[in-house]
Amino acid sequence: MSKIHVQTKLNGEDTEFLCEPRQSLLEVLRETLGFTGTKEGCGDGNCGACSVQIDGVLANSCLVLALEADGKEITTVEGLASPEGLHPIQQKFLEHAALQCGICTPGMLVAAKALLDHNP
Ligand code: FES
Repeated sequence: MSKIHVQTKLNGEDTEFLCEPRQSLLEVLRETLGFTGTKEGCGDGNCGACSVQIDGVLANSCLVLALEADGKEITTVEGLASPEGLHPIQQKFLEHAALQCGICTPGMLVAAKALLDHNP
């Protein structure tokens, strides 16, 4: 099967990858690009563990085809912190031990950021 060339901006960096037409963005983030902070929980759009922002909009990356990332800006949990330190949301999660087993924590962080980006 021929692969599709995708150009995107991932956590502020120009990024290119090849993917199969049926591959999810979640799969490519984790297995092709090594961004394993984005987790797979349910794999069918119900849990939010795989949350990312696509052009600033919250999305379940398990329901997005990787090829749909072409020309888009993707932010994963790895893109929240800066060289100066953790994102304020990450800092507060840390201070208040706001996690359970941790599998959904990256998704909650990205979802909280997306919410506050639109409703500061
Ligand atoms: Fe549960 Fe994507 S893995 S919504």
